[in-house]
Amino acid sequence: MIHPLSGATLNRLPDASVPAIPKYSYSSILNDAAKISWQVQDLIGDDRPLDFSKAFLPETIAHTQGISCLTSDEQLILNQIRGNSYLHLFGLVEEFILPLVVNHVQFIGCETIEATQAYLCFAQEESKHINLFRQFATAFARGFGFRCEVIGPPRTIADFVLQHSQLGVALVTLHIEWMTQRHFLDSIHSNQDEPLDRQFCSLLKHHWQEEAQHARLDTLMVQDLAQKLDDVAIESAIDDYIAIVQYLNEGLKTQVQLDIASLEIPIARTLTATETEEIRQVQEFSYQKGFLISGMTHPNFMQTVQELSPAGYARIAAIANTFSSSDG
Ligand SMILES: [Fe+2]
Ligand SMILES: [Fe+2]
Repeated sequence: MIHPLSGATLNRLPDASVPAIPKYSYSSILNDAAKISWQVQDLIGDDRPLDFSKAFLPETIAHTQGISCLTSDEQLILNQIRGNSYLHLFGLVEEFILPLVVNHVQFIGCETIEATQAYLCFAQEESKHINLFRQFATAFARGFGFRCEVIGPPRTIADFVLQHSQLGVALVTLHIEWMTQRHFLDSIHSNQDEPLDRQFCSLLKHHWQEEAQHARLDTLMVQDLAQKLDDVAIESAIDDYIAIVQYLNEGLKTQVQLDIASLEIPIARTLTATETEEIRQVQEFSYQKGFLISGMTHPNFMQTVQELSPAGYARIAAIANTFSSSDG
């Protein structure tokens, strides 16, 4: 299906069973992690300012250029507001991923020391990412000049997520880490045409460099946790994953309302009800595609879920398709 907003092919879950998950090893993940050595100050700071004459997010993530009620300047401002919300949303999810990983280190102990090392490295990198997103958000606030509201506080959202089973939260984390790959590979790596802000491109690239290890560790974490559970507990974890996705979906819808309110200030006009409705429809689908569908339909996420529970896989596929068809 070609979506009219993006011009991109929507990823549909295949009907046939998907291939088996490749076997990841802690030693190869550790080796790959050791090759990455960037620091937050390498990506953002006084000598690396954001360029507010450019878009921050690729059109395949922000979906602002097709909004007919906005001028091109107003579309650019909305794109930058989306850039700011991207920083906050990722900073927010990292705040429940970090305790999940720290808990898992305690759970596995030191029996397989390479696993312990790999998860500790994962936790250290996620805390660096929280700092990365905060530093970018500070640079945004300084340069944009207008206050943009975001959902939260992150602690409240993390508390809601973390009250679910560890396997349910691990599945959400797996979804998010593979989604990060799509944000880089689909929208930056193979996209040389859009004149985007260099620092944001760098953020997406460097974040994915480390998420590539995290996604493989999440896969191992999910397999490890599931091994100790019976079928009923696994289905309950799928329930948890779905409950968290639905909760995040409601949060994204709220974020759309906040983005529209934030937009009215720098564009210095009040949007009509018709204009607001057009933006709401386009942006709700945009957030769902970028943050929910892209994770739920990532082939590696699908493989892991199908291995865990074919019935759970079918339920998640059905919800992804509901999101895919809910635009407009
Ligand atoms: Fe991260
Ligand atoms: Fe991560």
